[in-house]
Amino acid sequence: MTKKHIPQPRTGGKGSPLKGKIAVPGDKSISHRALMLGAVALGRTRIRGLLEGEDVLHTAAALRLMGAESGRDGKGDWWVEGSGVGALTEPEDVLDMGNSGTSTRLLMGLVASHGFTSFFTGDGSLRKRPMARVTEPLSRMGVNFLSRAGGRLPLAVIGTRETMPVTYRLPVASAQVKSAVLLAGLNTQGLTSVIEPHATRDHTEIMLAHFGAEIKTGTDENGAKIISLRGYPELRARPVDVPGDPSSAAFVTAAALLCAGSEITIKNVGINPNRTGFYDTAKEMGADIRFENPRIHGGEKITDLVVTSSELKGVHVPAARAPRMIDEYPILAVLAAFASGKTVMEGLSELRVKESDRLAMIASNLQACGVKVEMEGDTLAVHGAGAPPEGGATVPTSMDHRIAMSFLVMGMAARNPVAIDDGGFINTSFPGFVDLMNGLGCRIT
Ligand code: S3P
Repeated sequence: MTKKHIPQPRTGGKGSPLKGKIAVPGDKSISHRALMLGAVALGRTRIRGLLEGEDVLHTAAALRLMGAESGRDGKGDWWVEGSGVGALTEPEDVLDMGNSGTSTRLLMGLVASHGFTSFFTGDGSLRKRPMARVTEPLSRMGVNFLSRAGGRLPLAVIGTRETMPVTYRLPVASAQVKSAVLLAGLNTQGLTSVIEPHATRDHTEIMLAHFGAEIKTGTDENGAKIISLRGYPELRARPVDVPGDPSSAAFVTAAALLCAGSEITIKNVGINPNRTGFYDTAKEMGADIRFENPRIHGGEKITDLVVTSSELKGVHVPAARAPRMIDEYPILAVLAAFASGKTVMEGLSELRVKESDRLAMIASNLQACGVKVEMEGDTLAVHGAGAPPEGGATVPTSMDHRIAMSFLVMGMAARNPVAIDDGGFINTSFPGFVDLMNGLGCRIT
């Protein structure tokens, strides 16, 4: 898959109002998991609303190389053919994960308990990201790895059918690490457990139960969550409806909040409580966001989001909230730049190992747009002037889709247009972003 370089898109909407009723593409986390669990369930799983972003397409391509066919009947309408737990076959080529950390870490777990070797690589951003956080627990299960220094890609997973169950306490709040261990536990005899001191998104657990696995959640004596999976379940193909991605909806929400006179509805957005930290924080800042018609589908909560432009004030965002909004700090920082007063965000160390060093990118790009920021350790403070920032910069995105979309949103309401160096990476998670935003009244050129 070759990435289309989209040169320097820019926004200079000067706050023209956003109006309309739209839906954002399917949830990225749920889409990856639907394909993976479909590939190890017995029979044909049908998926509606699958995110057709490049990250998810990399997962589908990798599974196809391991014998799990998938295909598309229409937009977002997919099927995947599974042969049961433990039935993936040795890929005859390198697994190219593109820009996608979720594909890499979850698939490393899934293949680890198979008796074959597979080779993983990815683009320049992914090859910088730490994989030792996954190889460490999987090594305890008896799996071997060969990697570049620091556990970086390219790496080889030397899988084994003799994996041992573990009880693993997560040293970082990471749903990807949790999921890698649980997926390895599928083809492992006995009980594989993960202890989570800080709750992270639980889509893997919800979907494992949906496909028929025996999975239990409890708490230990210190109140940490324990998730236990019984190995060798008979997973059966199940239909999956993928809700709209709350992380993608956050960009549209922020644009509507910042452009005076906006009122929009975003239909069918996932609101798993482990993903809604951005919405809670925006409401604390004074945002008029309503969750209408909340309902549950396939174990996941969904809603229609109604957003009206709002005056915002600075707030304090505690470190404990980070796992519930880890992908939303770039766009929250943009909101903070327009708010009146200081917004302090604590506990941001994980932002350093995302698609880019997001902490550094947020700070330097905000400064380039005339916003005062302070950074100390893993705390970022953004000084909002209660008025639109200067803007007027062309900012780098460092192969990071969320930095790209955040600064296009900045340009929608800043005093001067903002350009980004490359819009191509937006397609990893939000294909159609530019057309969707322009359809609501923005001017991205
Ligand atoms: C994801 C987990 C998060 C998140 C990523 C998707 C997932 O990563 O940032 O975009 O689908 O499990 P970490 O587990 O590294 O926090």
